[in-house]
Amino acid sequence: MSRYDGVDLQLNVPHSARMYDYFLGGFTNFAADREAAGHVLASASWVRDAARANRAFMRRSTRILARTGIEQFLDIGTGIPTSPNLHEVAQGVRPRARVVYVDNDPIVLTHAQALLASTPEGRTAYVEADVTDPDGLLAEPALRETIDFDRPVALSLNALLHFVPDAAGAYELVERLKSALAPGSALVMTHVTPDFAPEEVGRIVGVYEAAGTALQARTRAQVARFFAGWSLLDPGVVPLPHWRPDPDEPPVPAADAAGYAAVAVRS
Ligand SMILES: C[S@@+](CC[C@H](N)C(=O)[O-])C[C@H]1O[C@@H](n2cnc3c(N)ncnc32)[C@H](O)[C@@H]1O
Repeated sequence: MSRYDGVDLQLNVPHSARMYDYFLGGFTNFAADREAAGHVLASASWVRDAARANRAFMRRSTRILARTGIEQFLDIGTGIPTSPNLHEVAQGVRPRARVVYVDNDPIVLTHAQALLASTPEGRTAYVEADVTDPDGLLAEPALRETIDFDRPVALSLNALLHFVPDAAGAYELVERLKSALAPGSALVMTHVTPDFAPEEVGRIVGVYEAAGTALQARTRAQVARFFAGWSLLDPGVVPLPHWRPDPDEPPVPAADAAGYAAVAVRS
């Protein structure tokens, strides 16, 4: 019996999670995903580097926040598991860390086992939910059982919000999620921008929209607006490879064009 039995994955339609998996060199992607991803790479070959730089940012930001003392992580738009996953990074610093993963794609759910291999002291959970329904997401029993909302939480929305246009309530949903988090919590984000390569990014938007996935690239000011009222950590909203680069990681300058990264904390 296949892990996909009984799950309607719509394999003839490209999907953002599987296209991203293809950019990262993963194996959880199918012909339609590879074809659409190929069109993206034909417009902008740096997208592959950008995907790797995005994962590297997740590792750096998670490590830094865990070192500051945060022990709870809520990662929405998790994607198909890719080693190391966020809980492995967080629990590498704080073995007691609790991590909840959320995605709305059934294929991520079918691979969630890889996301649940917690340390004995810590805890992980997977929730299938849609970020555009933040109240429903926040009410999920597995989330409430794992995360104590009276204590700080690092909320990561990496490479997610460009799939939520303004008209679908992107700013409102982020404010709703922020309002549920205690002082000391952090908001972590990466986001595609048209600021550096507008024509290439415009073509990429066209590929996703032709595949039925809305994609809204946002300017630096539009990305900064998601952090309103919270204090941005240095160096602010910057091209994602420039957010506290790790000297041990090879630089990926081609990824500069791709998007912004930032982390802010609630005081
Ligand atoms: C490009 S991947 C990013 C994966 C991971 N966060 C990272 O940065 O490496 C985007 C993920 O967001 C998920 N996603 C897209 N729209 C979503 C929504 N409305 N609610 C929850 N997840 C969503 C997709 O299924 C996909 O797994």
